[in-house]
Amino acid sequence: MAEIKTVGVIGAGQMGAGIAFLAAANGFQVRLHDSAPEALATAQSYVSNSINALVSKGNLSQAAGSDACLLLQCTANLKDLCTADVIIEAIVESEDVKKKLFSQLDKIAKVSAILASNTSSISITRLASATNRPQQVIGMHFMNPPPVMKLVEIIRGAETSDDTFSTTKALAERFGKTVISSQDYPGFIVNRILMPMINEAFYALYTGVATREDIDAGMRLGTRHPMGPLELADFIGLDVCLSIMRVLHTGLGDSRYAPCPLLVQHVDAGRLGRKRGIGVYKYIKEAEKTRPSAKL
Ligand code: 3HC
Repeated sequence: MAEIKTVGVIGAGQMGAGIAFLAAANGFQVRLHDSAPEALATAQSYVSNSINALVSKGNLSQAAGSDACLLLQCTANLKDLCTADVIIEAIVESEDVKKKLFSQLDKIAKVSAILASNTSSISITRLASATNRPQQVIGMHFMNPPPVMKLVEIIRGAETSDDTFSTTKALAERFGKTVISSQDYPGFIVNRILMPMINEAFYALYTGVATREDIDAGMRLGTRHPMGPLELADFIGLDVCLSIMRVLHTGLGDSRYAPCPLLVQHVDAGRLGRKRGIGVYKYIKEAEKTRPSAKL
């Protein structure tokens, strides 16, 4: 099993920043890349604030917290990831964009480096085909928010080696996560089950079964989910939910995975969820971490 000292993360959004935090807080050198400097600045403060929160809660010593903050280096230059032992991609959920990135990474990464994707549903085998090291390409799917959620889903592509799998699993465990392993089929385990539920909630709203509040309360209180499915869709991003439904629909070839027209319409209208301040619900800034705050 390869030794991991430096973790590269690509994409400084919510997922990438969360993964960078996990790596730094657990003692790894981290190189976080994004081409947008403002995204890097936001991620840098998120990681420092999250580490400081661990220190104030007594979960990390002051000295370990200061060391962890120094472990993160943000960079707008992709080539700075050339020293990473594993690179975790957390960019936009588009197969073409990811393939282009994997092809670039294959050229700049160490020969021994593992290239992991945090994709929600895209085929690892197809991403691996953009490289000359398919045995070192793997899916490492974190749940949102990565620091809080206990799971990492690991997906082996058709060519992924046993060594790549064991090294990636050990890394996720060093981050304090429980690992589940999935074959490389559309949506893997979590989104294969979660997204049809969210899509069905949109159908329930679309066909007038109930109000959005009652649909969410039904699942929150009736099945003890921390968030109702519509609220969760806003949290994940409606564009992300739609792209996963499209992968399920195309990849599994079954009409039961057809995205609900209401979900499509929200995305067409730019109502993408919390990140845009409006999705199924409308949000005010201060309330973004809690429940939906106002009616549309
Ligand atoms: N980063 C770091 N920590 C965070 C955080 C974030 N973004 N959001 C919340 N937290 C921490 C808080 O600091 C707090 O920590 P503490 O208990 O030590 O003080 C704790 O989480 C609880 O946070 P809050 O009190 O602010 O809020 P809630 O109690 O309402 O919890 C939630 C927020 C953890 C997001 C909870 O609502 C939840 O579990 N929701 C479901 C999330 C879920 O299902 N995620 C998976 C989605 S599927 C997915 O990601 C796959 C993808 O491919 C689509």
